[in-house]
Amino acid sequence: MPLSQRFTLTQYLIEQRRRFPDASGDFNALILDVALACKAIARTVAFGELGGVTGNHEVEGGASINVQGETQKKLDVLSNQVFIQMNEWGGHLAGMASEEMGAPYQIPTSYPRGKYLLVFDPLDGSSNIDVNVSVGSIFSVLRAPADAIASGRDLTEADFLQPGATQVAAGYALYGPTTMFILSVGNGVAGFTLDPNLGEFRLTHPDIRVPEQTQEFAINASNSRFWEPPVKRYVDECLAGRTGPRGKDFNMRWIASMVAEAHRILMRGGVFLYPRDTKDPSKPGRLRLLYEANPIGFIMEQAGGRASTGRQPVLGVRPSELHQRIGLVFGSREEVERIERYHHEPA
Ligand code: AHG
Ligand code: MN
Ligand code: MN
Ligand code: MN
Repeated sequence: MPLSQRFTLTQYLIEQRRRFPDASGDFNALILDVALACKAIARTVAFGELGGVTGNHEVEGGASINVQGETQKKLDVLSNQVFIQMNEWGGHLAGMASEEMGAPYQIPTSYPRGKYLLVFDPLDGSSNIDVNVSVGSIFSVLRAPADAIASGRDLTEADFLQPGATQVAAGYALYGPTTMFILSVGNGVAGFTLDPNLGEFRLTHPDIRVPEQTQEFAINASNSRFWEPPVKRYVDECLAGRTGPRGKDFNMRWIASMVAEAHRILMRGGVFLYPRDTKDPSKPGRLRLLYEANPIGFIMEQAGGRASTGRQPVLGVRPSELHQRIGLVFGSREEVERIERYHHEPA
């Protein structure tokens, strides 16, 4: 398709809105603010060492630590600030929550408050920043509780504890060789590529579908001694290759940026596992439910793939904490269903 005929993200959103004649336009404005934040982060990431943005975020006494005990990179903190600045003023949001903030962020009273909640991982894969490997931002849009919208009250953690199935929209930006913006407003999944000349996201992948079958899996194998038996069985069968029970050879990938793995899987199929394991009994999984598992799960399901804890669909889990961790398996439907089956079969 000639470049001039490619839709922009704005045009795509206007087209989608035509399905809802009563829509106020708030939602579209919100997504455009999120996309603007992602463009700003993409620029900052692209400057790397030249921009002085690599390395840890230093505070008095050493590197800062976020609420989940991780060392914060400068870009974790910066990206979080960009998300806040681009989204707090527009009047579309009742509040925000992020990986990098212990408690919900209250929209300052100097701005109007709106009806949506924005939950985000401002920079996913941030350990890869200093080695120039792809990173991204992940976001989830929820509706604020009716009484919060009506009263404009401050939000509590409980307001955010909604199952992933209630998401209004979800998406991510990927800062790779090109910057991409992947979005689902609950009507399939669309992919946009940043046109650096126009500074606009343009529709390049109109209806992304995850291939149902695959011969590629992604798991951090250094954790294998902590895996539960169903996961060990699944991986062993993949490794056994064409002479094993699967009757085919598998390939393996591990980028350590979940957002980049999710993108690869959307483009060419595959399965990703960061399962619950026995490494640290206080952490039932590595990835976070509200701003990693739920938005990526929503995208996968909207693209015809599947996302699971291993035991049940991720989108059905009722969250109990803002920063809750969970086992996560997603990707090609048949593989995820197989892994779920192994979890339900007696050992
Ligand atoms: P974040 O950078 O937002 O904290 O997330 C990192 C996550 C995820 O992107 C990746 O899949 C995983 O951590 C990598 O974990 P390992 O270091 O255990 O491989
Ligand atoms: Mn982190
Ligand atoms: Mn992350
Ligand atoms: Mn992060």
